[in-house]
Amino acid sequence: MIVLKLGGSVITDKDRPETLDAPALDRAADAVAGASDDLVVVHGGGSFGHHHAAAWGVSVDSGTDDVEGALAVHGAMTTLNRVVLARLHDRGVSALPVHSLSVGARNTDGVLDLPLAAVDRMLAESFVPVLHGDVAATAGEGVTVVSGDELVARLARHLDADRVGLCSTVPGVLDGENRVVDRVSSLDDAALGESASTDVTGGMAGKVRTLLELDAPAHIFDLDGLPAFLVGETPGTVVD
Ligand code: IPE
Repeated sequence: MIVLKLGGSVITDKDRPETLDAPALDRAADAVAGASDDLVVVHGGGSFGHHHAAAWGVSVDSGTDDVEGALAVHGAMTTLNRVVLARLHDRGVSALPVHSLSVGARNTDGVLDLPLAAVDRMLAESFVPVLHGDVAATAGEGVTVVSGDELVARLARHLDADRVGLCSTVPGVLDGENRVVDRVSSLDDAALGESASTDVTGGMAGKVRTLLELDAPAHIFDLDGLPAFLVGETPGTVVD
């Protein structure tokens, strides 16, 4: 079982609101269609989610109780999700959407409660569930952002994933001289930069922190590495 995240910056032009990077999405969809294992896909927000989230002041810890704001973020993400699904369907992948807003909730402790019976059943019936960064109702905050990375962690634990992959715009975790680090086992192992574009959910350091807490080995790589990852190879950086 593989849990794969397609970073929002990979499949969209992160600096132009609601703009797809269509060639990149096509390459990602080609690779997913060639995967040799059971797969759950999560995609990020890129220029679809983050601009709306920033405009409405919504982040993982700080929410809005304005329904217009909630739907601005969620609607942009479901629009992107439909495009991702269509690209996968074009290649014969039996992809089905799973929207966290409909079933997830963030409790007072900030932890996301996300029932996954639908994901389990879809997998058992040979579908490929496709989740996405979203918003979810949150105690005392209205709705807050649910990041794709958070969903990856939740799915990896629940499904006891063998491998986790984050397809990013960089070829792995980079050291101070921009070389890919082969393995990261602690936050001290690399000089971790923050993402430069609008990103309400935390950059590379946040990703590595989340991945270090997982049992499954996680891999960070770019689009060039994605086909190799999906057939069992180890491009980029292993975080374990
Ligand atoms: C974005 O999810 C969620 C929203 C802003 C709604 P991610 O935080 O996982 O997206 P990327 O991959 O960084 O773009």
